[in-house]
Amino acid sequence: MKLWDSRFQEGLDKFIEEYTESISFDHKLLEEDITGSIAHLKMLNKCGIVNDEEYAKIEKALLEILEEGKKIEKFPIEYEDIHTWVESKLKEKVGNIAGKLHTARSRNDQIVLDEKLYIRRKIKEIVNELEELQKTIIEHAEREIDALLPAYTHLQHAQPISLAFHLMAYFYMFERDIDRFKTTLKRHNKCPLGSAACCGTSIPIDRFTTSRILDFDEPTENAMDTVASRDFILEVLSNCAITMINLSRLCEEIVIWNTDEFSFIKLSDRVTTGSSIMPQKRNPDVAELTRGKAGRVIGNLVSLLVTLKGLPLSYNRDLQEDKEPLFDSIETTINAIKAVNIMLKEATFLRENMRKQLEKGYVEAADVAEYLVKKGVPFREAHRIVGKIVNYLDRQNKKFKELSLEEYKKFCDLFEKDVYEISDVEKIVDSKKSYGGTSRELLREQIKNVKMKKNWQ
Ligand code: ARG
Repeated sequence: MKLWDSRFQEGLDKFIEEYTESISFDHKLLEEDITGSIAHLKMLNKCGIVNDEEYAKIEKALLEILEEGKKIEKFPIEYEDIHTWVESKLKEKVGNIAGKLHTARSRNDQIVLDEKLYIRRKIKEIVNELEELQKTIIEHAEREIDALLPAYTHLQHAQPISLAFHLMAYFYMFERDIDRFKTTLKRHNKCPLGSAACCGTSIPIDRFTTSRILDFDEPTENAMDTVASRDFILEVLSNCAITMINLSRLCEEIVIWNTDEFSFIKLSDRVTTGSSIMPQKRNPDVAELTRGKAGRVIGNLVSLLVTLKGLPLSYNRDLQEDKEPLFDSIETTINAIKAVNIMLKEATFLRENMRKQLEKGYVEAADVAEYLVKKGVPFREAHRIVGKIVNYLDRQNKKFKELSLEEYKKFCDLFEKDVYEISDVEKIVDSKKSYGGTSRELLREQIKNVKMKKNWQ
């Protein structure tokens, strides 16, 4: 059954029918399609285009179709797309009045509506999952506030920090991801229905009513733009890609931390796999796969960007290609957040191994320089002096705390006994009280405020 075949003398070639169908994937929009249809029907009724009796009949049938559709595993491709399937079923149930539902509506605006409603539903899920992950991060951060490790720049020991500080960095990355999804929803919260094929309609409909029923802020302003644009999907794909990149960075750190060389983290048996050859292996598959899946989600964004590039206004069938990347990115992102959350929840941080790394190298160097700055030495000069000390320590195979005051004074006579306080990494960490710094006092305060703001007490 096709919606458009009255002027055609021959049916569609079987292979072409398969080539052009979208019902095998857009059936995911069944619920949205019915919701949109009922809203449109209500509006048509209000405008006197569909009478009360017709309204009641069609609405009842649509709700039945929804229930029937939910049970179907494989929709027959002869129906081309989900809109056609719903309309055909409606005709079977209510006869010719089914046709009234399509007044002042085309599949071109219908598909945009379905996608907008789907995105609205799925973004709620994504935001929920991201917040669950944030809760896990906060739980670890509270527990690990006294676990100290080196911060890294260039993957080289930089300065001592609290593990809570490192974990909270991800909290804020995911907080911006949440915000991006929410603002995308807000920006595109305009109702496409009633744009019809691409130019509006001569039938006296009321798009504001449909918009209100469906909880949009207002109708879209230009029918051509409405049926031709997919930037709302591009934004979702981009948001998904950014979230996946953030997850992938966290996962990369977990892979590194899980190596024998680092041994900063122990993943639970429930999320690691073994090797069929090497019995000692505990592979961080969840982290690796998430890193891998990020590639596909980035690909989905690129795929739609390329589809849209150079596409003339208004609707073109190319636009049907927006759905598979959209569904895939959304499902992959939701699953990735869930999996990473499970992996992180059950992970144990190996504090002693982290701490041991602080003994190596010269993580106090920057603090020794700041010590001199506090005594009036310009920072560049202090940096130069401490650079020389590090060079000396390296040659002598010594640590800062093994340096005698006399030796210190050879480099600068402003050094006094209190310089030895710097060898205490706790003190170093807690001295970073500048806003956004790693001091444990600041971190405790910050975590408390975040929990209050999010209502997570
Ligand atoms: N399956 C189509 C799509 O996803 C629905 C819109 C079709 N419109 C049309 N005029 N063929 O884009």
